Amino acid sequence: MSAFLSVRDLRKTFPVSRGLLQKAELLHAVAGISFDVPAGTTFGLVGESGSGKTTTAKMVMGADEPTSGEIVIDGRDIARHDKTERFAFRRLLQPVLQDPYSALSPRMRVDRIIDEPLRIHRIYPSTKARAERVAYLLDAVGLPPSAAQRYPNEMSGGQRQRVAIARALALEPRLLVLDEPVSALDVSIQAQILNLLRDLQDRLGLTYLLISHDLAVIGFMSTQVGVLYLGRFVEVGSKETILSDARHPYSLALIASASPDVNAAPVSGEIPSPLSPPSGCVFHTRCPFARDRCRQEPPSLRQLKPNHLVACHFAETIRLETNNA
Ligand SMILES: Nc1ncnc2c1ncn2[C@@H]1O[C@H](COP(=O)(O)OP(=O)(O)OP(=O)(O)O)[C@@H](O)[C@H]1O
Ligand SMILES: [Mg+2]
Repeated sequence: MSAFLSVRDLRKTFPVSRGLLQKAELLHAVAGISFDVPAGTTFGLVGESGSGKTTTAKMVMGADEPTSGEIVIDGRDIARHDKTERFAFRRLLQPVLQDPYSALSPRMRVDRIIDEPLRIHRIYPSTKARAERVAYLLDAVGLPPSAAQRYPNEMSGGQRQRVAIARALALEPRLLVLDEPVSALDVSIQAQILNLLRDLQDRLGLTYLLISHDLAVIGFMSTQVGVLYLGRFVEVGSKETILSDARHPYSLALIASASPDVNAAPVSGEIPSPLSPPSGCVFHTRCPFARDRCRQEPPSLRQLKPNHLVACHFAETIRLETNNA
C-alpha cells in the first residue's frame, strides 16, 4: 500500500543559547523519526509536552524546515517543490489547531472566514459558486445556515472548532494535520468534534496526522500510533497493538494514566531536558524496569512482530497487566 504521507529519518535541532556569553547548544526537538500514513487512515502521534509533536507537525505542514530527513506527500518530496508547486500543494493539506479562537479572526464574519481561502486560491468561478460552497461546508460540519452571519466571539468553543474545520476543508484538502484539535474544549464537546472528524474522514477519504497528549483521543481516532518521547519513537504499532499489547514502559505508563484498570505505574517525575538527554535509553531515568544495560546502551527501534516496533531492551518481558485479569 503506498503511503499518502511518508516521513523518513526526520530531524529538527534548534540552537539554544543559555546565556549571553555561552556558546549555543543544540536542542534535538525531533531526533530521527520515520512513519508512513496510507491514504484515508489516521496516524496518531502521542507523547508528553515537549516530546516534539508540534515540531513534527510544522515540518509536515512546510511551516518549518527540517534539519534533515525527508517528507514525501502524495509522491512528492516537499523540499523539492518550486514556488508554483508549493502554492498548489497548500491546498492538499490543511491544519486544524488546538485553539480555534486564535486561529479565527474575531472581527471577521464566519462566512468570510470560510470564504477567504476560496478567494485566495480562485478556484470558484463566481461569488455565487463560492457562497454555495460556504453553505455546503457549514452544513458538512454541522452548523446551521444562520452561523454564516455570526462572529467567532459569539460562538462556543465547539462551534468555533467547527468553523475552523469548515475553513480547513474549503479547498478540498486530502490531508489534515490535527494538532491537539480538542484539548481546549470541554470533555463533553470533545467527543462531538472527534465524531465529526471521523465522519468527515469517511465521507471525504481524508488522511489525518493527529497529534494529542491524550491517549484516549489517539485511541478513538487512530489507525496507527507512534509514541514519542524526547523526539524519538519508543513504540509504533496499530492502534489495537498499542492499546492492548504495548511493550514499552513509557507506553504502559501513558495507558495506565488514561485507564484505571491497567496495572502500571503512571509516568512519574519530570521529562528530562532535550538539551541533555539521558545516556543509553532516554527513558531510563523514569523507567521502573531500568537495569544497567539501559543506562549504557541505547535500544534500537526494533520489530517485535509485524507492524510493531519497540525501542526497549526488555520488551519481550514486559506486558500490560489489567487489574481484572
Ligand atoms: N523555535 C524553537 N526554538 C527552540 N526550541 C524549540 C523551538 N520550538 C520547539 N522547541 C523545543 O523543542 C521541543 C519540542 O517542542 P514541541 O513544541 O514540538 O513539543 P510538543 O510535543 O508539541 O509539546 P506540547 O504538548 O507542549 O505542545 C521542546 O523542548 C521545545 O522547547
Ligand atoms: Mg505542541
